[in-house]
Amino acid sequence: MHLTQKEKRILQGEKGSIKAKALKLLVEMGKQKGAEELVDIRRSHISGVSYKTAGKPMLQLLEDMVEHGVKVKTFATVNPAGMPRKGWKSLGVPEEFALPQHRIIAAYQKLGCEVTLSCTPYSLYSPKKGETVAFAESSAVCYVNSVIGARTNRHGSLDALAASITGKVPKMGLLLDEKRRPGILIKVNFVPASQTEFSLLGLYIGGKIEKEDNPAFSLSNVPTEDELKSLGGGLATSGAIALFHVLGVTPEAQNLTEKELRSLETITVTEEELEEFSKERKKVTEKPDLIAFGCPHVSFNRLKAISKKLAGRKVRNAISLWIFTSEAVISRANESLLKSIRNAGGQLIIDTCPVVAPIEKMGIKKVVVDSGKACSYIPRLAKGVTASISNLDEIVEKWTVKC
Ligand code: F3S
Repeated sequence: MHLTQKEKRILQGEKGSIKAKALKLLVEMGKQKGAEELVDIRRSHISGVSYKTAGKPMLQLLEDMVEHGVKVKTFATVNPAGMPRKGWKSLGVPEEFALPQHRIIAAYQKLGCEVTLSCTPYSLYSPKKGETVAFAESSAVCYVNSVIGARTNRHGSLDALAASITGKVPKMGLLLDEKRRPGILIKVNFVPASQTEFSLLGLYIGGKIEKEDNPAFSLSNVPTEDELKSLGGGLATSGAIALFHVLGVTPEAQNLTEKELRSLETITVTEEELEEFSKERKKVTEKPDLIAFGCPHVSFNRLKAISKKLAGRKVRNAISLWIFTSEAVISRANESLLKSIRNAGGQLIIDTCPVVAPIEKMGIKKVVVDSGKACSYIPRLAKGVTASISNLDEIVEKWTVKC
């Protein structure tokens, strides 16, 4: 790999041992994938924030970096933590979790990160179309590549951190034009009825194709940004997909020629097929302890839709309704929007999410979600907790009453 004189000096330790190790990690990553050089970035998003998933080793690494005076070089946002910074006690988060979690958040802050604690950082600080960035968090990777048209590989927590402190990434994978072309055409011959159906469609297709396939979807409707976000979240969960196209909708789909599309292998998805795939996930046998919206974090439009649906209703007894979102989204909401959520018994929760919070230690056993990603990950990451999926209308119909 060609390295500049400056990069060579960083590798030799001119800027300290941590920067040298971080750059070495990126160089090795690049060499494995045949990258010829490193490129500069100004924007990144880091995962590995929740103490539940990052644990003690990450806490130690971050505090070590702080002690060495390391600072991020990019505008770096961070993923949800395992609890909100305020009000965690009333949600039932145990103290032995909260203390190290606070230290992780403090360390990111001292490194110079924007402590956004959200998996939808693009809704406040969006990268530009065509810009090269380094994003971790699979759903955000899929969104910025596909819907915004920025360029990022699917980074893990360590390499996103390394990219943030060096301001560099290896030029490889989805940073290259040729790796962004579609490898398969997905014809959807029905109109997915809700954001949840898009999420399930993503989950279904992600499980059927290869991760380098960059599926191109042919849809008979124009999906909303929220629906695209859910589609990407599902694809990233089951198939590690980092880029998709929607014909006539997403930015890079405009460059696809008829000839190119005709040459692609094609899969057709029917409504019956998706229904069959979703059947088990949709099965709700008992009353849930928790209804969780917001995986990925709900947008302002989604918050409005939820609030509208909840107006004049109340959640059934002994069910909590938590809406996971970001501070940035809540700051846009007016009092009447928030009131219908509160009056229905709902709580807006920031800084965390239903998957990375230690819900198994918070007295929760059964969760209903509107997201394929949450439905897949909750049972895997929260021992003894079950999850089922329903769309917003069904949830409101079944688990709330008129008041
Ligand atoms: Fe976001 Fe947590 Fe889901 S980080 S995408 S809400 S698993």
